[in-house]
Amino acid sequence: MFQTLIKTSIFWTLELAEVPGLSTVRGVDLYPPPETWLPPNCIMEVDDVLQEWTWRDQFDLVHLRQMMGSFTIPEWNKFYKQCYDNIKPGGWIEQMEGNPRVRCDDGSVPDDNSCLLFGLQCCDAADNWGRPVTWADNMKDEMEKAGFVDIHVKEYQWPIGAWAKDPILKEAGRLHYHQWTSGMEGWAMFFLTKYGVPEPWTVEEVQVLMAKVRKEIQNPRNHIYQVARRVWGRKPTAEEEEARKKTKGTEAKDKEIKAEPKDN
Ligand SMILES: C[S@@+](CC[C@H](N)C(=O)[O-])C[C@H]1O[C@@H](n2cnc3c(N)ncnc32)[C@H](O)[C@@H]1O
Repeated sequence: MFQTLIKTSIFWTLELAEVPGLSTVRGVDLYPPPETWLPPNCIMEVDDVLQEWTWRDQFDLVHLRQMMGSFTIPEWNKFYKQCYDNIKPGGWIEQMEGNPRVRCDDGSVPDDNSCLLFGLQCCDAADNWGRPVTWADNMKDEMEKAGFVDIHVKEYQWPIGAWAKDPILKEAGRLHYHQWTSGMEGWAMFFLTKYGVPEPWTVEEVQVLMAKVRKEIQNPRNHIYQVARRVWGRKPTAEEEEARKKTKGTEAKDKEIKAEPKDN
């Protein structure tokens, strides 16, 4: 039986449920899903993953995506600990996050470009709020701290707009352009008017910034992108856990021996 806990888009959750061999796919969010038809092995639940987990079976995989800005650092620690405790020995965790910082490598936009400014300002505001949106930078270390091993990291360039030559990146950029034009003003409005640094922005200031952003991302000469990161790691098997405990025990004994006072 393959049990998966998912915090990702409904579409991916549904696709995953149809993969042969996956017995149960559980999607969780604070809000109900927009879909009403679900395959029988796909369960959508409204739940808060920061509360104590009450699922009876352990999971083979916990996958989460775009959760940056959802939790404070202590909440992230608690979350990874619950993942660790509720994944089967040898099972996996996988997380994908984008970083809101906007980058440009070829000097095609000036440093005061509004998209670059947008990224920096939102990151500062999220830090000010205590829920970092740059969580992609922390995932590997925090998973390691929770006890996961065999951790892999993969980075993806995520163009904003269809300026890339590579057809896949071009398509990703085209889709990302629509995300920016439809969703980013809401994001900026929340972060900057509530937690803007050094002072909260006015609604009008945010509207002016976002009007400039929308104009700039239409220009195919502006080669701007974000970085998305995928990190995945494994819970040690029972044998690995046993070996780890033994090594820890031996190290502790060695320390005790070294700390013993010398006889006069
Ligand atoms: C940026 S959206 C990403 C949605 C989805 N993971 C995706 O990749 O399309 C973040 C989601 O996390 C959910 N969320 C935030 N805190 C949560 C919590 N404590 N428990 C469950 N879901 C939570 C929000 O309701 C929101 O739908």
